Amino acid sequence: MHHFHYTGQDLHCESVDLAAVAKLYGTPTYVYSAATMTDNFSRLQRNLPGLDVQICYAMKACSNLAVLRHFSNLGAGFDLVSGGELRRVLAAGGNVRASVFAGVGKTEAEIRLGLENGIYAFHVESEPELARINHVAGQMGVRAPIAIRINPDVDAHTHAKITTGKSDNKFGIPLKNAMAAYEAASKLKNLRIRGVQMHIGSQLTEVGPFVEAVKKVSPFVTELKAAYGIEYFSIGGGMGIVYRDALASGQAAWWDAQPADKRPLTPEVYGAALAPLLAPLGVKILLEHGRFMVGNAGVLLARVEHLKRGAGKNFLIVDAAMNDLVRPAMYDSYHEIVPVHRDSSRRALVADVVGPICESGDCFAKDRPLQDVGEGELVAFMSAGAYGHVMASRYNTRGMPAEVLVNGSAFELVNARETFEQMIAGEKIPAFLSIADSGVRKPDR
Ligand code: LLP
Repeated sequence: MHHFHYTGQDLHCESVDLAAVAKLYGTPTYVYSAATMTDNFSRLQRNLPGLDVQICYAMKACSNLAVLRHFSNLGAGFDLVSGGELRRVLAAGGNVRASVFAGVGKTEAEIRLGLENGIYAFHVESEPELARINHVAGQMGVRAPIAIRINPDVDAHTHAKITTGKSDNKFGIPLKNAMAAYEAASKLKNLRIRGVQMHIGSQLTEVGPFVEAVKKVSPFVTELKAAYGIEYFSIGGGMGIVYRDALASGQAAWWDAQPADKRPLTPEVYGAALAPLLAPLGVKILLEHGRFMVGNAGVLLARVEHLKRGAGKNFLIVDAAMNDLVRPAMYDSYHEIVPVHRDSSRRALVADVVGPICESGDCFAKDRPLQDVGEGELVAFMSAGAYGHVMASRYNTRGMPAEVLVNGSAFELVNARETFEQMIAGEKIPAFLSIADSGVRKPDR
């Protein structure tokens, strides 16, 4: 469920008319709903009753400072993956002591930054990494809290680029080698074994793979608790969201109408299946969801530049491009595209929805049925809150898009659109390229 809906003919985020946002801040602009994030967070927490749960929001999904502050206010820690993300947590006033540091290639400087700021644990992916963390902690005269990431070899049935829990992925240590890795860690005197972690993939729409992975790793958690007194088990993130019927899925009625065997995963189903498996372990449970927390809480607003009617094909050219939202180009992902002003008297249109970037991959949707919209009108790309702005780039020297946070009837710009001057601020032309020194003769005029 989410808080994007039509009031009359106009698409709103909570009580804010999205046309008003576009008028003030231009397009392309990401718009986030604070109430939707709150709902997602609370539903997750509420549905694992009786467990000691810490939600570590996977901030890679959307790391705007305002979003981090909002989750921090709700009680979240963070799953972070770089020194940059750690500094964002600090800048947002978030709690590093309730946060975990993941990633297969943490640098010495990043490990130091984590230790200086009291990170709850490092999630370790390999034996060489154990040695590196031990080394840095030794230099600092501290003990580094760690958990080893187990690769449970479970098929998450998701997109190949975002599945992580199979043995042929680069992530984690196979279960059969895991005890040896913990033994090795226990011999490194600057490490403190704190927990165990796994994450099997992203955009999972069924609970089965989560159940399979938890069942597979649980006996090992019990062994680790006995051997090393571990205090937590992180079961990762990965809960999927609705992309195809994104707008309709904001309403409870849509969920009620889904046949039981077709209903996408919800926190209720997730909690009901997992809580009974996790409770007997008697350890704290960490959750690292990213997409579920913010995916349906954000849209990308764009304006139509032209409707180009071709022979047998229409192209709706909008002012957002693959640099603003790369998921369709990168993963062939589907984002529902809806008009900001709905008008049922308009005829329908079938078009490829494309951006202005000079390559064919800059395509958001092929042969998409849409309401006929013309130059200057607004559209919204739904379910764009996760892995949207964070994956944006400056390709074609297009500035990073703006971000706006809505809260009830209030809204505020939380990241200004990047200017041309900001884009080129770090660049310079070296002296040896000055025309006088380079030996390049100016062409005769
Ligand atoms: N924990 C770990 C260790 C992860 O690697 C990830 C995501 C998460 C948690 C959060 O997963 P989530 O709850 O968001 O599914 N850019 C891709 C998704 C990449 C996910 C990478 N790891 C996309 O746009 O679909």
